Amino acid sequence: MRNRLPPPPARILDIGGGTGVHAEWLAAAGYHVDLVDIVPEHVRAARELANRIDGRVSAHVGDARSLQAGDGSVDACLLLGPLYHLPEQSDRARALAEAVRVTRREGMVCASAISRDAWPLYAPRDGVGLPTDRVAAIEATLASGRGDPVGSLPDAYSHRPSELAGELDQAGLVDVHVLGVEGPGWILFGSDLAEGRVDDLLDAAIRTARLFDGHPDMTAASAHLLAFGRRP
Ligand SMILES: C[S@@+](CC[C@H](N)C(=O)[O-])C[C@H]1O[C@@H](n2cnc3c(N)ncnc32)[C@H](O)[C@@H]1O
Repeated sequence: MRNRLPPPPARILDIGGGTGVHAEWLAAAGYHVDLVDIVPEHVRAARELANRIDGRVSAHVGDARSLQAGDGSVDACLLLGPLYHLPEQSDRARALAEAVRVTRREGMVCASAISRDAWPLYAPRDGVGLPTDRVAAIEATLASGRGDPVGSLPDAYSHRPSELAGELDQAGLVDVHVLGVEGPGWILFGSDLAEGRVDDLLDAAIRTARLFDGHPDMTAASAHLLAFGRRP
């Protein structure tokens, strides 16, 4: 993501920015970050971070579907998480339309999504079997994108890469492309297999992910997707 952002000191709106996990490194890199999140406790934590970081980060409570920022007021928008929590297509369209509205012309919108096709891979990652009820839950989510068949996010929505690209296209973005965040090596890290070998496996996983960069057929094997688009 870093090498696709406009250079610092650009202004970035971090929508669904949580407690400031990205705001912190962005501010340290010289960006101005306005963070918006729908959960007040997250915003409180982000404000504590902002107080420590000398005026480069602001944080307020808000909804990705109805932003307070003015038209074209930021150089880039990050939407790293809200699309996971918006199962209705109309809500995702509103969130993306808002991100496009507040981004200046030629600015960038970056949106993450849960990868729908990666759900079957959590069983090998966790080193567990696939009982029939879990297979049924995974099949249902593979078909609809709704639900979290291995975790605790019942309102989750997961995308296929082409679907995510289509939603950015529909929002009016151009030069849209979708990358896999982790690469296929992410399944190595959930079980005892990784014990004592994390550094080696991490190196292998990162190098494997780089080998697949630019090979769109493998994108869906990542647990998460990252889409980029430019506001024309
Ligand atoms: C999975 S977390 C990601 C946090 C952070 N962006 C990151 O990448 O680690 C999703 C975040 O989106 C926030 N969120 C969910 N729906 C939202 C909405 N409609 N508007 C704004 N924030 C939202 C949640 O409160 C949460 O902080």
